[in-house]
Amino acid sequence: MGAGMTGAVQKGALGEKTVGSATLLVTGGAGFIGSCFIRHLFEQPGFSGKVVNFDKLTYAGNPANLTDIEKQQGGKRYFFEQGDICDHDRVLAVLKKSGATVVVHFAAESHVDRSILGPQDFVRTNIQGTFTLLEACRSAWEGKRDVRFHHISTDEVYGSLGETGLFLETTPYDPRSPYSASKASSDHLVRAYFHTYQLPVTISNCSNNYGPYQFPEKLIPLMLLNAMGGKPLPLYGDGKNVRDWLFVDDHCSAVWSILTGGLSGETYNIGGECERQNRQIVEKVCEILETLRPARGNAALNGRAYSDLITYVSDRPGHDRRYAINCDKIKRDLEWKQRFTFEEGLRKTIEWYLAHTEWVRGIQTGEYRKWVETNYAARPVP
Ligand code: NAD
Ligand code: DAU
Repeated sequence: MGAGMTGAVQKGALGEKTVGSATLLVTGGAGFIGSCFIRHLFEQPGFSGKVVNFDKLTYAGNPANLTDIEKQQGGKRYFFEQGDICDHDRVLAVLKKSGATVVVHFAAESHVDRSILGPQDFVRTNIQGTFTLLEACRSAWEGKRDVRFHHISTDEVYGSLGETGLFLETTPYDPRSPYSASKASSDHLVRAYFHTYQLPVTISNCSNNYGPYQFPEKLIPLMLLNAMGGKPLPLYGDGKNVRDWLFVDDHCSAVWSILTGGLSGETYNIGGECERQNRQIVEKVCEILETLRPARGNAALNGRAYSDLITYVSDRPGHDRRYAINCDKIKRDLEWKQRFTFEEGLRKTIEWYLAHTEWVRGIQTGEYRKWVETNYAARPVP
């Protein structure tokens, strides 16, 4: 019998005291958002517990994202376990050995373009992996109270908006890429475990994150590094697709609010309330870069301005036109709010990439070059 099956559904919040002294199993903690969340935990005055980072270290996972935490907390309050979330026995063994009572599930294949070129890994990790974790928690937490499975999801599960409207927690799911379909599927499994087995769960659906340590396959770091190298800045389609942008630290503070104050069984939207067209984003990156590292001092630019590198290329198949988030619920119920404006967050991000040349060099390896070649060589300028 699984966790909670003998009792009533736990509808309450865990509270800061319980979460603050718990052992947390964070999946995908060496990726972009997961590593930021682990750093955020150790900066929380209310957190004195332990963290187990369970990560397979795919191309997107990088131990260098947490060198500081490993140095300060490694073997004391921070433990790294390399493993695959699809490996039930391994996950269960780590859960039991660590005594983790809170799981924060970030691990996923996360890049839409990769899901178009190779959907299989997305089905495996995002669906099968989430299922495996849920089963392991159900087994490890049998008869336990004060446990929580928090699932990190995305606004992409809601589909694509027209010129107006916002995604609410109640918006029907309408995923349109293999990535968003696999995330939607995992969300459904998480809810099913709450209703069927009374596993205490929460879900958050967040919009586009940006910030330090983001793998440069995603829009902002890709454009930034290409601009620095004097390479084309490839905007898909007409460049007018709209995303809502949130600085990654603000996502992490929202997840902490949900862990401590969120009610089991609930879903919370998280967003920046900051809609921008892709071309506006890229123009802003060029503008800030110009103030920090003027193009005239960059030999790779050969006399051009950064914005001269903007190139319109063929569109992403099934490209969702617009995402926009209504996050009133988390603001109202959990008193969360964004701390960083887009201008502040973007400047901090660009400064970070300029200052961390070693990290950047380490990322731009053969695997990364192969991806860039595969994705962009096949994208002619229309
Ligand atoms: P990322 O690609 O940077 O990191 C993913 C991490 O998961 C990596 O460390 C990788 O090694 C690990 N991983 C992948 N497959 C695994 C497996 N089978 N077993 C164990 N570990 C595995 O991703 P991210 O951008 O940090 O996103 C984290 C989560 O947030 C994902 O669930 C994503 O869907 C969600 N999300 C991302 C954004 C965004 O803008 N990046 C926005 C909303 C939601
Ligand atoms: O909305 C949340 C989602 O945001 C997360 O769930 C995903 O994990 C995350 O990758 C992100 O998905 P997007 O597809 O929106 O992000 P990406 O950075 O890949 O692209 C942002 C927009 O920029 C999108 O409209 C496609 C466009 N784009 C992207 C790249 C990489 C370009 O025009 N050119 C590019 O080279």
